[in-house]
Parts: sequence; structure tokens; C-alpha cells
Amino acid sequence: MKTSEIRALFSVVSRPEVVSLAGGMPAVTALPLDAVGSMIGELVSGMGAQTLQYGSGQGDPRLRERICDVMALEGITDASPSEVVVTVGSQQGLDLVTRVFCDPGDVVLAEGPSYVGALGVFQAAEARVRHVPMDDDGLIPEALEQTLLECRADGDRVKFLYTVPNYHNPAGVTLSEPRRQAVMEIAERYDLLVIEDNPYGLLGFDREPMRALRARDDRRVIYLGSFSKTFSPGLRVGWVLAPLAVREKLVLATEAQVLCPPSLTQYAVARYLDTQPWREQVKHFVELYRERRDATLESLEALMPAGTTWTRPDGGFYVWLKLPHGLDAKQMQPRAVNAHVAYVPGIGFYADGSGSEFMRLSYCYPEPDQIREGVRRLARVIEAELDLHSTFDAVDTGTFRAVPGPHGGAAPGAGTIVGPANSDRYEDRA
Ligand SMILES: Cc1ncc(COP(=O)(O)O)c(C=O)c1O
Repeated sequence: MKTSEIRALFSVVSRPEVVSLAGGMPAVTALPLDAVGSMIGELVSGMGAQTLQYGSGQGDPRLRERICDVMALEGITDASPSEVVVTVGSQQGLDLVTRVFCDPGDVVLAEGPSYVGALGVFQAAEARVRHVPMDDDGLIPEALEQTLLECRADGDRVKFLYTVPNYHNPAGVTLSEPRRQAVMEIAERYDLLVIEDNPYGLLGFDREPMRALRARDDRRVIYLGSFSKTFSPGLRVGWVLAPLAVREKLVLATEAQVLCPPSLTQYAVARYLDTQPWREQVKHFVELYRERRDATLESLEALMPAGTTWTRPDGGFYVWLKLPHGLDAKQMQPRAVNAHVAYVPGIGFYADGSGSEFMRLSYCYPEPDQIREGVRRLARVIEAELDLHSTFDAVDTGTFRAVPGPHGGAAPGAGTIVGPANSDRYEDRA
């Protein structure tokens, strides 16, 4: 196991002078904290015999019913509470699924880039990850098919496709409707299991939730859900929806790991869903994140030097930024931290060591003004880096020409410095 890029950043980004665009922490202070506090207090004082006791390995039946109601918002209308396993965040769900399916050396297909926590799970299981390229519409079905053919030719045992179809972490993109269809057709043709990891599905800015992959196929898709982004990550309540035979194995695996998920937090989530206006709260989160997304995109457009490109998320927490040619986000990181801005270098989101020219920017946590300041600092760091590179290039070629600044003199917002939406495949790198 290796230190995660994100954990390594934690000590730095907690310094108050640093604007952190690094962590993906939800804006929990936007919750009605007093109401949640009294609710949890009552759960202990009034129902301590249950809420402070061990519970069932599969999770509280009442909560599993409510989870089915939540999934119905994404078109999963046939789920039964008996197919749901409550987990300690969806992270534990992914760990359980991987333990159940993967032996060392097995292959897992995953988008390139992929959620860093998933890569950690696959690595711990000694599974090999093969990345499938994405573009602005998410995973590319033709590339998925190509990868499957290559795996066949190489004799790889492919255990599943791991995908984050909505507001991808870290890429910020969403799998389009036609591609959802195409991905499921390929899964059928190649007898491929799909792990659909969907913590951000209800956090779309401009549309109703998209229909889940699981809503199209109840045999071939295992669905991972979470209350971390719609309620609270500190409660650590997530779930897996899986066909009964798989569910059975997941319950055995979770009992071996933790006996049962925590009773108090399960009751807290169930009570929250029963008694609080949680759909209104999700809308409130969406408005807050939309404002932060806008602040991020507007500042990027106004300030980033030519050659920088980025995705334009319409939900979730993240923008995926590609640096101008030749720049390396990991190498640049100490200078960024010196300039009091933090991001996550892209390399952590690939299992194969690629991604050096990318970084993930999270807009979920800082206030809009901090975001603007963070992007301003970042733009300066990138400009300085470009200056450095062009100076070295000039020395290399022996031409000591005056090298124009990265803006080429253009005023911020003049259009010439604006990077287009990243329509490259993220994998298409020289
Ligand atoms: C794609 C993805 N999956 C899973 C998780 C883990 O979520 P949880 O808090 O439910 O364990 C995250 C958290 O950032 C995530 O972005």
C-alpha cells in the first residue's frame, strides 16, 4: 500500500493561510446542525437500548427501506430492502465487493482517471487496474470494448468494470444517456459485471437525476450508494445494492470485518430521512455547490494562461484541469503550497503512474471568494512555471530571445487566454 496523494496533503491544507482546492469535503455546516443535534440526542436518550447496541450485519431494516426510496429517485424502482447491505460509507462497500470478487492478479477496468480511494482498494486486493479513457461525455464505450478485446488477447481475468457515471471524481464529467446504453450493451455482450459507484448522483445543477445503470440491469450491476455527500460523511453510512447471491457473500464479509455497521449512525440517517426535509436540504447543497462551481469556472476562464484546459462539471464537486504542455502538477506542488494554494496532482488518480499534467480542483468546501483567490494564486504559479520552462527552452536551443509572458499581453478575460473545454481524451497523451 502507498500513501494516498490526498492524505499526504492533509497536514498542509489545514494551515489557515492555504486555500485548499484539494480535499473533497462536503459543506456540512450548511446542514441544520441544531436540528440534527437534537435528533441524535433523542435517539440516545429515548432509544439507547437499540441505538447503542449491536445490530444486524446487513444493516437496520428500516434504513434499508428508506435507502430503496432514495434509489427510486434515480430510476431504481425494483430494489428490495433484502438486496441492500448497509456499509461504513460506500468505501467499505467497494472494499467488500472487491474482496468478494478479486483474487491477486485479476484485472479491474476503471476509468482513467479514477477515484483514488478505489485505486487503493484494488491495489490492496492486488488486482491490476486497466484504465479506460474518458472524454467530456464520460467513459468511451468503443475504448471499453477495445480494452476488453485486449484483455482477452492477453488472457486477463477481468472481474468487473468500476465506474462513477455521475459528476465523476476526479474528472467532473457525466456519462451521457446514449453511452449508458452502449456501456450496458457491451457489458451484456462480454458478460461483464459493472460496479456503479454513485455518491454524487443527486447533486446535478441543471437536471433531474440521471437514470442509474442499475435501473437498466438488475443482474449485471452492483450499485454503491452513500449519504456522505447528501447528508454527512462523518456518519459513515453507505450501502451496496446487489443480487441476492452476492448480497449473501457481502454480509459474510462485512461480519468478518466489522460485525455490523454502527447502529447509532444508521438510526440517525433513517430518522433524518423520516423527519427532516432532506430533499430541500439536497437542493440547498446543490445551490451552494453551483455557486462555487461558477466561481471556479469564471476565475479559471479569466485567469488561466493559454494552453490550460479544464472540464466543466454540471454537478458534483470537481474540475479536472490539464496544464500547458510540459508542466508537471506534482513537481509544481511545493511552489503552489508556497503560494498558499493546494490541489491534488493528477498522478494519484491513475494506477499506471500517468496523469502528471493533470490536477483535480475541488470547489465543494471553500467559499466563492476563497475559490477566486485560490485560482488567482494557482494561475500565477502556472505562469511562473511556464516562464521557467520557456527560459530553459531558450537556454537549451541557444536562442536567448525575450520570451513573452504566458498571457501574451492579453488582458484577463480577453478570450485569448481561455482554454477550451478539454475535448481531448484524457488518455491521449504523448
Ligand atoms: C467516487 C467516490 N466513491 C466513494 C467515495 C467514498 O464515499 P464514502 O464517504 O461513502 O465512503 C467517494 C468520496 O469522496 C467518492 O468520491
